[in-house]
Amino acid sequence: MSIPRTQRAWLVAAKGTPAQVLRMDDNVPVPTLAKGEVLVQVRAAALNPVAYKIMGMVPGFILKRPYIPEHDLAGIVVDANGSKFKTGDEVFGFLSAPPAFRRPSGTLAQYARVPASALVCRPTNISWTEAAGIPLVAMTAYQALFKIAKLEAGQSVFVNGGSTAVGAFAIQLAKANGCTVAASASGKNEAFVRGLGADEFFDYTKGPLHETLAAANLPKFHVFLEAVGPQPKGFDIGGFWKLVWKVYLQPGWLGGTRRSWRIISVANNGDDLQRVAAYVSEGKIKPIVDSTFAFEDALEAYERMTSGRATGKIVIKVDPNVD
Ligand SMILES: NC(=O)c1ccc[n+]([C@@H]2O[C@H](COP(=O)([O-])OP(=O)(O)OC[C@H]3O[C@@H](n4cnc5c(N)ncnc54)[C@H](OP(=O)(O)O)[C@@H]3O)[C@@H](O)[C@H]2O)c1
Repeated sequence: MSIPRTQRAWLVAAKGTPAQVLRMDDNVPVPTLAKGEVLVQVRAAALNPVAYKIMGMVPGFILKRPYIPEHDLAGIVVDANGSKFKTGDEVFGFLSAPPAFRRPSGTLAQYARVPASALVCRPTNISWTEAAGIPLVAMTAYQALFKIAKLEAGQSVFVNGGSTAVGAFAIQLAKANGCTVAASASGKNEAFVRGLGADEFFDYTKGPLHETLAAANLPKFHVFLEAVGPQPKGFDIGGFWKLVWKVYLQPGWLGGTRRSWRIISVANNGDDLQRVAAYVSEGKIKPIVDSTFAFEDALEAYERMTSGRATGKIVIKVDPNVD
């Protein structure tokens, strides 16, 4: 397979919003590989909120610009570089954010360098665009529920944000492991969230969530997963901190319950990704695509992402011919 020296890629030129700082460039060098990295011809790349947050917030002395943004990809290995892969392998995975700070080279490009340890063979029962939207969010949900919170079969979990991509995979993974799931979302997404398997639904637009939950007089949940986080628009910071206070911080002597909590940061781990891929191959969890965009239309895709209203993943067809 012949690899060109330059490629078409989106570049982040300065600190700001996608509309302000993203531009397409047809003459970006194809990345060179370090030991342990493979070169992937990107078929599809999915957007993640962390990318526009980094774009708008991380100063130049930490992250050198211009750089190629984004983390998730599905594509074909074109230089296996002595790794476990061979040329032509169909893979998916994601690039962690901190390493991208050191050697910035993201997935919104025709070619991406990726640590071989961060890739596995893609499930072939789903499309390229569906595959691209799985790794980062499904791994976040998987690691949060099972590696950090140690959720077990027969236990219950509350997913705050059942229609976020992280929340949607958390619901599916919890149900696939025999757990009871309650989830919040706005009323328009009730059918979507219940369709993923949620046993109980709470509309967060009807009132402060902690009051709704207290009034519902529910048994205690074994795990409470916060899958919303700071949202780009319409984020109710007061409501968020009230929820954080009630659910995570309020000490027992002020009426809080006993619980431990962790802020998690998804970690690249080939074994976990392999497990996620197996769930998909076995049909136990399904990909969730909100919308797909042509490579040239990435700015429109970011508009959709920063609306905060996507239900599932926003995926860019880097190769226009992929399904
Ligand atoms: N720590 C980590 O490692 C890690 C990894 C991945 C993601 N994250 C973070 O996790 C969060 C979710 O990411 P994502 O990609 O899954 O988001 P996303 O899919 O882009 O989230 C969009 C969804 O959020 C819902 N939403 C907005 N405000 C809500 C609220 N107050 N309560 C419940 N749902 C609400 C919207 O539903 P409605 O239209 O119904 O409101 C929409 O469906 C982000 O803050 C992201 O940065 C962290």
